[in-house]
Amino acid sequence: MDYFKDAKTTMEVYETEVKIPLEILDKMPKYTVDLFKEMALGKFEVNSYIKNMDARMLDSTKERHLKDSYNLAGMYAFVSWKWINPFVDWLDGRKVLEVMAGRGWWTYALRQKGVDAIATDDFSWERRNWTETLTEVETMDAVEAIERYANEVDVVLMGWPFMDPTAYRVLKRLHEVNPNIPLVYIGEMGGCTADSNFFEHYGVIYHDKKFNKVSEEYESWEHIKDSIYLGKYREENDNPDWFLKMYLEKQKE
Ligand SMILES: C[S@@+](CC[C@H](N)C(=O)[O-])C[C@H]1O[C@@H](n2cnc3c(N)ncnc32)[C@H](O)[C@@H]1O
Repeated sequence: MDYFKDAKTTMEVYETEVKIPLEILDKMPKYTVDLFKEMALGKFEVNSYIKNMDARMLDSTKERHLKDSYNLAGMYAFVSWKWINPFVDWLDGRKVLEVMAGRGWWTYALRQKGVDAIATDDFSWERRNWTETLTEVETMDAVEAIERYANEVDVVLMGWPFMDPTAYRVLKRLHEVNPNIPLVYIGEMGGCTADSNFFEHYGVIYHDKKFNKVSEEYESWEHIKDSIYLGKYREENDNPDWFLKMYLEKQKE
């Protein structure tokens, strides 16, 4: 569906009221192309890029407005069947707990695929235009949910936690309560989610081939550097990538 088919200017794009369908889509409705991907595939042509600059800028505005509309409709981590399907394969019948689930989009998709899931949130989220969740989400603080449920589940999920100490407290408490199970995190690695303590101690597991397929299928909005990670608590993150290293150093200044 093209939400902006009649919008010819940036202003008209922003004036378009986008009604987000309350269903899981096959993939992210994108208006922009990934320039780095185009370059890597040898498809990037500088002349055509310059010639189409205005159209690209308008597409960028459309995607930005769509992203904001999804955020207001309660979805930060973009949930689509594209990555949920391989994720359900990876879960292979394991039970999950989602903390900070918000409106519950992730759990909503998982339950449709028959996954046994508990979803929790304290509903402290203010900037939103929804009141009802999409599926049952228990009102509960994230750390309390770990204390209550971490021994009953096999995997914990956390998408787009606020930029405060909660994500780290979840990671640490999970390690204390049930160190055997992983934490699947969706967010930026050193950006607009969680805090530096979380990134210092979240050890990403890169060698799970089945999980890597999930990461490959996950899609981000333009200019948003989020991804899906599999990881566990570790005392020290001895292998941060260059971006995370820069971020952690900046936090210490
Ligand atoms: C940016 S939203 C992300 C929601 C959802 N996971 C997503 O990706 O769309 C962050 C969520 O964390 C919840 N939250 C913040 N602090 C929390 C806490 N201490 N315990 C439980 N939930 C919390 C907010 O209510 C909000 O729903």
